[in-house]
Amino acid sequence: MSKIIKKIKNLQNKIIYHNYLYFYLDKPIISDSKYDYLFNKLKYLEKKVNKKKIINSPTHLIGSSIFKKSKFRKHLTPMLSLENIFDKKNFINFYKKMLLLSNTKSIKFCCELKFDGVAVNLIYINGILKQASTRGDGKKGEDVTKNIFFIKSIPLILNGLNFPQIMEIRGEIFISKKDFISLNKKNFILNNSKFSSARNLASGLLRRKNLDSSLKKKLLFVCHGFELFNYFKKIDSYYLNLLEIKNWGFNISDQILLCKSKNEILSFFQKTNKLRSTLKFDIDGVVIKIDSLRLRHRIGLISRAPRWAIAYKFPNEVKKTKLIQVKFKVGRTGVITPVGYFEPVYIHGVKITKASIYNNKELKKLNLYLGDTIFICRAGDVIPKIISKENSFIENLKNKVIFPNKCPSCSFILKTCTQQNNFYCTNSFFCIPQIQKRIIHFFSKDSFKIKGLSPHIINQLIKKNNFRNPIDFFKLDFQTLFKLTNVGKKTANNILNALNKFNSINLDKFIYSLGIKGIGRSVAYNLANYCGSLTNFLKIPQEDALKIPGVGKLIYNNLSNFLSNNNNLNIIDQLINKFYIRVLFKKDKRLFFKKSIFYKKNILITGQLKNFSRTEIIYKLENLGGIVKNYISKKIDLVILGKNPGKKFIYAVNFKKKIISEDELIKIFSKI
Ligand code: IVH
Repeated sequence: MSKIIKKIKNLQNKIIYHNYLYFYLDKPIISDSKYDYLFNKLKYLEKKVNKKKIINSPTHLIGSSIFKKSKFRKHLTPMLSLENIFDKKNFINFYKKMLLLSNTKSIKFCCELKFDGVAVNLIYINGILKQASTRGDGKKGEDVTKNIFFIKSIPLILNGLNFPQIMEIRGEIFISKKDFISLNKKNFILNNSKFSSARNLASGLLRRKNLDSSLKKKLLFVCHGFELFNYFKKIDSYYLNLLEIKNWGFNISDQILLCKSKNEILSFFQKTNKLRSTLKFDIDGVVIKIDSLRLRHRIGLISRAPRWAIAYKFPNEVKKTKLIQVKFKVGRTGVITPVGYFEPVYIHGVKITKASIYNNKELKKLNLYLGDTIFICRAGDVIPKIISKENSFIENLKNKVIFPNKCPSCSFILKTCTQQNNFYCTNSFFCIPQIQKRIIHFFSKDSFKIKGLSPHIINQLIKKNNFRNPIDFFKLDFQTLFKLTNVGKKTANNILNALNKFNSINLDKFIYSLGIKGIGRSVAYNLANYCGSLTNFLKIPQEDALKIPGVGKLIYNNLSNFLSNNNNLNIIDQLINKFYIRVLFKKDKRLFFKKSIFYKKNILITGQLKNFSRTEIIYKLENLGGIVKNYISKKIDLVILGKNPGKKFIYAVNFKKKIISEDELIKIFSKI
């Protein structure tokens, strides 16, 4: 490279960087005159050299057209997803289908690693990075240009000259296993919260505002797709185009294999699975793609996924460890859940020390003894689960794990149903963990939201000051608060202010805040809509209650038990008549349903949704006649799957329930 070209490149990079600071972050670090000086110098130098050599310069773009602010960005072409397969049989089916559809005897497949990261779409215009966004709903994704800017393997200006004027580069943003462990360990990330996988951490970093540059450097990128708009006509091979893309400055995987037979592909799959633990980053399978772009085009797609590619996922990783202890945890409504603690194991780079054993049925099935060698996996690649054990070396009765008959916290005799699957502590007014969880629920986001009244403070007041119900909290004084650990003057005053100011709540939130077993947000909302006032709610007859979507006999029993308890009525009475809380009600049309696949269906939601808040999605589904359930039961018809799903997901898989992803959900909503 000649001296002058080097100078031009340097200046181009500088200007792109200052454009970004100026137009995107609104935080320029040089004066306008200095910027103009650099810009003009670049123009001057560019004029001196052959025009053909400078087509990818920021001097060709008008300032803010490079970076526009808005949260979501449209992709130029849809970002598709991949169909998953989990076994050889399905792979062979896929392979045969490809031969059939292509009408040939042999096809070239490009086999790659399936990176466990976040998909991004990078748009380049005239060789300059214009925008970067996540996959989102496939049509538009969250704008992450800011943080992409610092990723080494993503060029801001492309190398060379031989690239299309407009193009989309697709790939995966991820983070190394080592960085994941050390960042999580240092508790570097947001308020002590830990990320459950390297992928979640990468996704968190990518979306974070004001991400500091040392963290940005941890993000890595690998290209696994592109839209070159007619350019591919020059080279009809995905792989060869990737090599071209590499020359423009992108990182491509060094573990790509072109295969011509199913045995070659199967051997790639097996080798990669063995290699997996030695890799510096997480992968969860291999991706098998037809290499010819023309053939891809002919074969086409089915809804959101191409037919010409498949993700062949690895079987679940299973680790052996030693059971140390089983604790029996008391939930808000008194349900007792056994939790197994074991010597730490790492699965896909994530440290795991405990797993829920759900209930007595599962505990009996596992037949555990302390000290047993047990096998752990992450169900659905997420939730830790004890799957089985080796035969116990010594089955010493002393060490056998059995469900207690008394509450581990208050020693109250536990109740159970005839099958003895679940045990409950019914000492709800005196059992401390139940009181703690109930009050935390009472003051939580969708209930009586009191800013600053954190679980930590609530727990202290319960333990140190004998607080037992929400009324005790409405009587709080400054001295009591100020004496607690980690509560300063400001926090104490803020909490007192929030409590004093709290004077009204919507009926649905009021009902939800009571924490009645089975009455989640949706049922509370329906009850509120049906009753229309607190007075009606307090005396709702059984035959009326049973007409309400989501209320069955079981929930009605819980409701009527709750409302016939004087302690509960007394608390409600004091809230209304002593602390003058007004319970408001606004009628809406929610009980009129449009017909849809959700109509009269029992629905579970598990995991976090990216595009809807929990309340929003519940309201949307219920508007369509769906009945959103909070708990697993035989009656569930379908399960909505978000990110990091909980045990409801495992249930859905085990019981072969219909699972709807968020992307599919968005599609369905858009058609209604
Ligand atoms: S190709 C139309 N290749 O997996 C095909 N995707 O489950 C688009 N992924 O959203 C994807 N490694 O984020 C492709 N080597 C790879 C991949 C890969 C990871 C991700 C990608 C996609 C998801 C689908």
